[in-house]
Amino acid sequence: MEPSTSFILTLLFFFFLLNSSSVESMNKNKKLPKPCKTLTLYFHDIIYDGTNAGNATSAIVAAPAWANRTTLSGLMHFGDVVVFDDPITTDNNLHSPAVGRAQGLYLYDRKEVFTAWLGFSFVFNSTEHKGTLNFIGADPLMEKVRDVSVVGGTGDFFMSRGVATLMTDAFEGSVYFRLRVDIKLYECY
Ligand SMILES: *[C@@H]1O[C@H](CO)[C@@H](O)[C@H](O)[C@H]1NC(C)=O
Ligand SMILES: *[C@@H]1O[C@H](CO)[C@@H](O)[C@H](O)[C@H]1NC(C)=O
Ligand SMILES: *[C@@H]1O[C@H](CO)[C@@H](O)[C@H](O)[C@H]1NC(C)=O
Repeated sequence: MEPSTSFILTLLFFFFLLNSSSVESMNKNKKLPKPCKTLTLYFHDIIYDGTNAGNATSAIVAAPAWANRTTLSGLMHFGDVVVFDDPITTDNNLHSPAVGRAQGLYLYDRKEVFTAWLGFSFVFNSTEHKGTLNFIGADPLMEKVRDVSVVGGTGDFFMSRGVATLMTDAFEGSVYFRLRVDIKLYECY
């Protein structure tokens, strides 16, 4: 990435830090039920950049005709589709023991500002949790917090539904990012 581009990105990032939307702030005037379960987890994405096949946890699998599958496209990555299999940890350390994998895809769907659409599962495999939670939603990723739907679950999360608040917890170079996911389930069995 050009230094000037990353400078602009940094500015944009801090500008958008001022905006916020979350379950709480978007529903200020409504009485919400209390979540029946909350979980905070992190997942770590290392995108393939042509040199890191050993470490990469995600790969561009489709790109517009004007771009390629090694480098995220210009135009805010519009049209790139990325498949991932990312470790999930309970803290923000990539090297902490994984409690499961975040598996699915994100695709970039706006030319004007970095915006993605997410569809993925948390596949839990720890002594504490077995099963899946399934997430879907729009991710205006330059905003500090954004909500996606938890549309269902299996195993320990049988029929669970709720909302997950995503926060970009780290963004290092063009290869690594870490998301903090605050999961609030409003249906539990
Ligand atoms: C990639 O993996 C190697 C070997 O495990 C490690 O030394 C290196 O720090 C990793 N790089 C990143 C960016 O995590
Ligand atoms: C992919 O596109 C980027 C950006 O235009 C370019 O720098 C890179 O050389 C391309 N890579 C391949 C393998 O075509
Ligand atoms: C779940 O964890 C166990 C114990 O570490 C391991 O043997 C098993 O292969 C894992 N299953 C999956 C689907 O990753």
